[in-house]
Amino acid sequence: MNARLEIFRTAKPQGRKIAMLTAYDYPTARLLDEAGVDTILVGDSLGMVVLGYPDTTSVTMDDMVHHTRAAARGTLRAALIADMPIHSYDNPKQAVANARRLMEAGADAVKLEGGVSHAERIAAITGAGIPLVGHIGMLPQSVREEGGYKIKGKTPEAAELVLQDALAVEAAGALAVVVELVKPEAMAPITRALRIPTIGIGSGEDCDGQVLVIHDLAGLFPWFTPKFAKPLAAAGAAIREAAAAYTARVHGKRDA
Ligand code: KIV
Repeated sequence: MNARLEIFRTAKPQGRKIAMLTAYDYPTARLLDEAGVDTILVGDSLGMVVLGYPDTTSVTMDDMVHHTRAAARGTLRAALIADMPIHSYDNPKQAVANARRLMEAGADAVKLEGGVSHAERIAAITGAGIPLVGHIGMLPQSVREEGGYKIKGKTPEAAELVLQDALAVEAAGALAVVVELVKPEAMAPITRALRIPTIGIGSGEDCDGQVLVIHDLAGLFPWFTPKFAKPLAAAGAAIREAAAAYTARVHGKRDA
């Protein structure tokens, strides 16, 4: 296993939590890498927070390759994971070919959405020697079919389905699994049942690590912030203020 991916093998047995953040470009990846983040995700959330689409379903392989290359140039130490966009893994052969493209762009591993229903495709990728992170719970690429970003695992039966997805992803050879918007009360048994780490987003504390979109953490997308994100900076407001002060200075306002 690539040394940068060792964190996914060692952290859980050592009781150490994994910190993952998204980055889509060179300066952000470099800043996160320098800050000591364990792993950087070039998420297809770039569709919303960078490319201005309403959801992730317009993101293409070419988009992901382009942004993975940029983020890879800024990542010296952290493990770099690249998302496989919608329809880039519709069958095992296509999944392996597209996973290879992302690895050639500089990713250390790829990530795709789906559990039991995607076990064969996950196994094809890991069987080809390509490290993979799973993604279960609420699946943003299915937001249109689902009619919104809905919490998963709300009943014992629904929590059991999430657990079965988690076990299928692990059995197919994934090195970790992102668990999105699962009812926090359902998470402890899932995290306990897996040898691989669970990386939660909006799924409470009972996960082996946490992931956030950098724009949500840094206040860089002030028009919408998910409830669970808890921003630690107001980068959007800082940019707006700097741009307004610069504009005033160029316009020759005396105090600018
Ligand atoms: O695309 C993305 O950024 C993601 C995270 C939200 C987990 O998949």
